[in-house]
Amino acid sequence: HRPVPLLGDAGDPGVDGTQGDKGEKGDMGEKGYCGEPGGRGVKGERGEGGMKGEKGKKGEQGSKGDKGDLGPTGMMGPSGPKGVAGDTAKLLRSAFSAGLSKPFPPPNVPIRFDKILYNDQEDYNPSTGKFNCSVPGAYVFAYHLTVRGRPARVSLVARSRKVAKARETLYGQEIDQASFLTVLKLSAGDQVWLEVARDWNGVYVSAEDDSVFTGFLLYPDVFEILL
Ligand SMILES: *[C@@H]1O[C@H](CO)[C@@H](O)[C@H](O)[C@H]1NC(C)=O
Repeated sequence: HRPVPLLGDAGDPGVDGTQGDKGEKGDMGEKGYCGEPGGRGVKGERGEGGMKGEKGKKGEQGSKGDKGDLGPTGMMGPSGPKGVAGDTAKLLRSAFSAGLSKPFPPPNVPIRFDKILYNDQEDYNPSTGKFNCSVPGAYVFAYHLTVRGRPARVSLVARSRKVAKARETLYGQEIDQASFLTVLKLSAGDQVWLEVARDWNGVYVSAEDDSVFTGFLLYPDVFEILL
């Protein structure tokens, strides 16, 4: 058993108390509902310039254009080196000149002028006294002979024919000269020489007196060569 306390009578009510202090801040409330959208704002100021863009891709190839006009003629270039002489130039040359080395050549045979002054093409043969044509064309033939003590009758022979004859009539110890010049048309292989007649072979030569036979190509017969 619990003992029952002894109580007096109830007292009068107390006077009103003073207002209490401000309470502490409450916890954050829950998120509110979404509001209505606002009206359109005023236009903003212009922005600053953007950065430079990247390089674009190469375009497709265009169609070929028309041919341009002919350009002006260029200046003449320097001349080239000299070429080697062709065979043609060599073929178109012929000349000889030869003298006697002994007086009074034997008659009726080619006089052998055996002292060569010029014979580069060797168309003249000093051991036979005959010129042999290798380039067809017009030729000049000439002689300058010293004649001494007896007459001389000289013939120029071409193609086995005496084409020119000359005589010098001398007697005793006198000395004279006989000269002759002509132009002959020759074909390849034609032969030309000088000869004296029997008892008319006064053709002479000494240290002071020459007797010379000369021949040369005046101009070639080009068409015969080409054909
Ligand atoms: C004479 O010349 C011709 C033509 O060049 C040649 O065919 C011939 O062999 C020559 N004859 C002599 C004897 O040299």
